[in-house]
Amino acid sequence: MRKRVIAGNWKMNKTPSETRQFLESVKDRICSAESDVYVFPPLISIPEAVSILKETDVIVGAQNFYYEEKGAFTGEVSADMLIDSGVKAVIIGHSERRDIFGEDDRLINLKLKRAVEKGLTPVLCCGESLEIRESGKTTEFIEGQIRKAFEGLSAEDAGKCIVAYEPIWAIGTGKTATSDQAEEICGSVRNTIKELYGETVSENMSVLYGGSMNAGNAAELVSCENIDGGLIGSASLKDEFADIVKV
Ligand code: 13P
Repeated sequence: MRKRVIAGNWKMNKTPSETRQFLESVKDRICSAESDVYVFPPLISIPEAVSILKETDVIVGAQNFYYEEKGAFTGEVSADMLIDSGVKAVIIGHSERRDIFGEDDRLINLKLKRAVEKGLTPVLCCGESLEIRESGKTTEFIEGQIRKAFEGLSAEDAGKCIVAYEPIWAIGTGKTATSDQAEEICGSVRNTIKELYGETVSENMSVLYGGSMNAGNAAELVSCENIDGGLIGSASLKDEFADIVKV
């Protein structure tokens, strides 16, 4: 049985003191027996989050890292640095990193391999632009992203990953994919994983939907067979996150 995953990607929001204030107020309400709950604060706010959430089951993740061990990579942090700070998970391949910071499939693949090797749970993001959706090529585009990201990973390592399907046209736009659209692509992600690694890995993998998910639409989305939870942006910055955890 796949466990539900509710994850908040805060993006570039909340200073360390805002993080403290917010998490102090919601920490008791974002714990859940039914779901694995993750928060992904900005790097500088991670120590506050780790400290406030240490006696809860809420998992603290990072939004990014660099795959090299150490050295002359100004501005970057390594997996070991995150782990030493109490981080257990990392988002990889978010469309904002792909589009704004130029991350390509090769870099995403290197990060995915390193994260798993180090014992960080990767949340691998995939998602199509509006242009690709309108050209009718969404399924094959997402399949390509998944195949390139997982290149060279063993079935055992792939089994440690979470995938989040986030259509770019639904991120931060208030325009959620319908549950049919989200279910179709999450199902096809699972199918690609099945082709690569077999049924056991694909059936056990958590596949999330992300893109304008909120307390009003979360229940319907996560009730779909192939949608195991959500990667939530703006609604994870508010009290509303606690309502989404409870759906
Ligand atoms: P929104 O929920 O703000 O649309 O963001 C989704 C997202 O990109 C989460 O990673």
